[in-house]
Amino acid sequence: MDNIYDRLMKPLESKWLNEYRKLIMPYAHGNVLEVGFGTGVNLKHYDFSSIQSFTALDLDSKKEFTPKTNYPITYVNGEVENLPFEDNSFDTIVETLVLCSVKDMNKAISEIFRVLKPGGTFIFIDHVLPEKPLMANAFKGVNFIWNHFTGGCNLTRQPHLILDKYNLNFIEKGSFADNIFRYGVVSKKE
Ligand SMILES: C[S@@+](CC[C@H](N)C(=O)[O-])C[C@H]1O[C@@H](n2cnc3c(N)ncnc32)[C@H](O)[C@@H]1O
Repeated sequence: MDNIYDRLMKPLESKWLNEYRKLIMPYAHGNVLEVGFGTGVNLKHYDFSSIQSFTALDLDSKKEFTPKTNYPITYVNGEVENLPFEDNSFDTIVETLVLCSVKDMNKAISEIFRVLKPGGTFIFIDHVLPEKPLMANAFKGVNFIWNHFTGGCNLTRQPHLILDKYNLNFIEKGSFADNIFRYGVVSKKE
């Protein structure tokens, strides 16, 4: 995943993202699915002593870029919008910076909660449309070009508003970078 998106995100990674990944990934436990695994940037933040199995899903799971880890990872090619798993399969699902680029965000979120067990944990970080009107208009204005050069990333999505409609308990919830990034750890009610 060596594209303009990665290069533009690098300063954000060291200023903010890494810190929030470190805060929320230790909540992952049991049978874990990470969707949009990419190059595995979250791996170093998991507590593998709490993890029984780890499945990494991406459009192309890119095994050749697989980071070295002592923990066995099952790689699956697939789309978040059509997860190739039974209902209630995972104790934890992790999604970071993926909902911006899926084709159908509502379907992706509904698939995540379909395969997450009742009482299971969903961990996420997303960038969203800014709240400040001037900034929001700027994001809307450049979205077309940004989308083109980043291979499908959208600056205008609001996945947090969809999540609010699900029956969830929030364990961690917050935002950073002027509310452009939202993160959370939620559990699906039993
Ligand atoms: C911006 S990268 C984020 C990578 C990593 N999760 C992170 O936090 O940096 C988005 C990843 O989502 C994957 N992706 C995009 N659309 C997808 C979809 N519909 N289903 C599964 N993976 C998808 C891309 O291939 C890419 O690896």
